[in-house]
Amino acid sequence: MTVKRIGILTSGGDCAGLNAVIRAVVLRASDGYGWHVTGIREGTHGLLSDPPEAVTLTPGMATSNLLRLGGTILGTTNKGDPFAFPMPDGSKRDRSGEVIAGFRKLGLDALIGIGGDGSFAILRRLAQQGAIPFVGIPKTIDNDVARTEEAIGYSTAVATVAEALDRLQPTAASHSRVMVIEVMGRDAGHIAVAAAIAGGADAALIPEIPWRLDAVARKIEAVKAGGRNFALVVVAEAVRTEEGAPVKASTGRYGGIGHYVGDRLAEATGAETRVTVLGHVQRGGMPNAADRLLASAFGVHAVDLIAQGKFDRMVAWWNRDVIDVPLASVVDHAAVVDPAGPLVRTARGLGICLGDR
Ligand code: F6P
Repeated sequence: MTVKRIGILTSGGDCAGLNAVIRAVVLRASDGYGWHVTGIREGTHGLLSDPPEAVTLTPGMATSNLLRLGGTILGTTNKGDPFAFPMPDGSKRDRSGEVIAGFRKLGLDALIGIGGDGSFAILRRLAQQGAIPFVGIPKTIDNDVARTEEAIGYSTAVATVAEALDRLQPTAASHSRVMVIEVMGRDAGHIAVAAAIAGGADAALIPEIPWRLDAVARKIEAVKAGGRNFALVVVAEAVRTEEGAPVKASTGRYGGIGHYVGDRLAEATGAETRVTVLGHVQRGGMPNAADRLLASAFGVHAVDLIAQGKFDRMVAWWNRDVIDVPLASVVDHAAVVDPAGPLVRTARGLGICLGDR
């Protein structure tokens, strides 16, 4: 097949580093192969409009400013699965045919989708149905995409939480308080445990390890008995209550477990406790150097895969190398924190309480 024009879209929640991927794809496609790149707006939503909402991405736009810029210049959505599209009357409709027709109208020869495993499941199904040559690039602050050691956005999110802990520590010490910080991670505790290590926390509660109040309270009391007047506790949003119930906000997303844990710890230890919910701060802002590097490596490799005619694959970072793996091995296989893995072993080795002992 002769590729002349590739499409690119960002799908699912945004994160830092998406624009750096877009830049790398444009540079590699134009400089390496003389191809044109079309950016599709707001994930597959852009393909539902007639004419499709898209923009030509020129090499002139791919400056180093894009490398630094947070969010996604293309826009994104984490709503509106085209196979069960929410209609104004509350019903769901299969609009996959319209999305595929939109792709054809743009005259595209291949598609790069930057997403997490949920987006890949949808994009892969569309690609199969419409015979669209497709390559995926993993992104998500949650770092729960299987078969890659790291997804774009994770490193920046961890650095952001670590910085928040750096800022909470002096105020905690000034007031002799226990600071609880609730962090993101839909059903995965990677951010929480990594940031707890990097930010010197005393406890990290993650959904992969059931917690008990008495274990965390004992840790806080041991910190105090050891002569320290403050403690830092990281709680992943997907952690459940002691009774096993998920805590959700009015948006239907996770939110509120930090306050639950903070209140219980205050009751159990008598410590003055304050809670910070970091929320979308973890997704915004400039990508750090590690995410820029990963984004650049992934963007270049994805275009090279198209040049080699290798489709239905996801680019990945594995064992100090950029590789590619079958998308079939990624979808429906969320990579959660391994309770026997290096993050947990390191945390335990540092005396960080994970709530189970
Ligand atoms: O999956 C990324 C993520 O940021 C999760 O960590 C979080 O639970 C969710 O998205 C928030 O989604 P929204 O932006 O729709 O509130």
